[in-house]
Amino acid sequence: MSNRLNSFTHIEPTAVIRAKKKYGTPLYLYDEKLIIEKCRALLSMPHAYGLVVRYAMKANSNRALLRCITEQGIEIDASSLNEVRRAGMAGIGMEKIILTTQEVPEGEDRKELELMMLRGLKYNVCSLRQLYLIGDFARHNNIDLSIRVHPGIGSGESASRNTGDKYSCFGIHMSDIKKALDYAKEKGIRFNQVHVHIGSGADPEMWRQNIDLELGIVEKYFPDAETVSFGGGLKEARMPGETTADLADLGGYANKQIEGFYEKTGRKLKMEVEPGTYIVANSGYAVTKVIDKKRTGENGFNFIVLDGGMEINARPLMYGSQHPFYVISKDGRLLFSEFSEGAARDFSAVVVGKCCETGDSQCLDSQGNIVPRIIGEPDIGDIVVIGGVGAYCASMTPFNYNSHTQAPEVLYTKDGELKLIRAAQTLEQLIANEI
Ligand SMILES: Cc1ncc(COP(=O)(O)O)c(C=O)c1O
Repeated sequence: MSNRLNSFTHIEPTAVIRAKKKYGTPLYLYDEKLIIEKCRALLSMPHAYGLVVRYAMKANSNRALLRCITEQGIEIDASSLNEVRRAGMAGIGMEKIILTTQEVPEGEDRKELELMMLRGLKYNVCSLRQLYLIGDFARHNNIDLSIRVHPGIGSGESASRNTGDKYSCFGIHMSDIKKALDYAKEKGIRFNQVHVHIGSGADPEMWRQNIDLELGIVEKYFPDAETVSFGGGLKEARMPGETTADLADLGGYANKQIEGFYEKTGRKLKMEVEPGTYIVANSGYAVTKVIDKKRTGENGFNFIVLDGGMEINARPLMYGSQHPFYVISKDGRLLFSEFSEGAARDFSAVVVGKCCETGDSQCLDSQGNIVPRIIGEPDIGDIVVIGGVGAYCASMTPFNYNSHTQAPEVLYTKDGELKLIRAAQTLEQLIANEI
């Protein structure tokens, strides 16, 4: 078997063992070189009249990753005031950030939002209420706004990640666009950007359909728009057999349609995309140790108990997502890789964590059923690495459930060094705010 975990990573099993020895398990390990390669691929997307790529920092907000990504020339999509603050604390200028949020900042938050906007933060209004509350301020300060439109169609890897159909409420619905336009006209506000994000892990065909739909919306309703954002949602294959979004194809299509738009209207639109998953998902590995093995009787299943589960990666529980497994012996031999066709697949098991929750399983389908997976059988003390956990894991898991403490994050740098980028949470930190 190859000396890397798979063909796209730069991480070798020996680096995993080094990380385990230095920081213990469970831990998150990120492949810096892969993140950089992903950023470069996005920045080379075909485009007609300019391209801005933003990183949806909700996917993983660690400062080291924000810096690595923005150093490549990528800007930021923030989904809360706190994310804007975190990006600011990481040294990222407000003019490089767009805020697309469900929040309606009030009081001190509102004052801070205004200061941020004066320093260049772009505000993407997502509801009529947000628009009405910011309208006077925007006009008095000559600040153009971006508007998130709810297109009425969406697509995602699961229903809960579809952000464009009638079951989700992100953006100003098409049926309310006239109200937004009337208000903007009355106040003298310009929408210089139109934004749509149809969902996470979207079907490429729907992504293409949205390009056409959105350009139609820009043409019909937004004469001042200079930029069109197609959102994130670019699919990244985590498992063998899944297909990653084809950037050349999607960018090529967007390019063609934006050129067509110019021929029709004389307007040269700049394009924005704001992926999170595509940039970081496959860079992340959860390094865990086998702490127990059990079986639920003759007609039951084998269980592999890891020292990290839903509090490291809740995506199987939330979405029924499948993540690849790797088994590494204590001395650093790669015993099983989901991506290796030659790997021994001699064992069927349910891989679980240490939480008191049947759903603390890495082997769930989209209905929440336990479905055993075929892997190489690990021994107690062996390492099981869970791949594809760079996005929506460290930033999204219920990490303190059962009073477990948050796992450390470690960067495998482009020079092959291990760098701690967030220390493990201590029990004292977990209870620090209790009174
Ligand atoms: C507004 C917006 N933009 C971008 C993204 C990033 O999506 P993804 O990680 O699928 O690329 C999201 C995630 O849901 C989002 O809500």
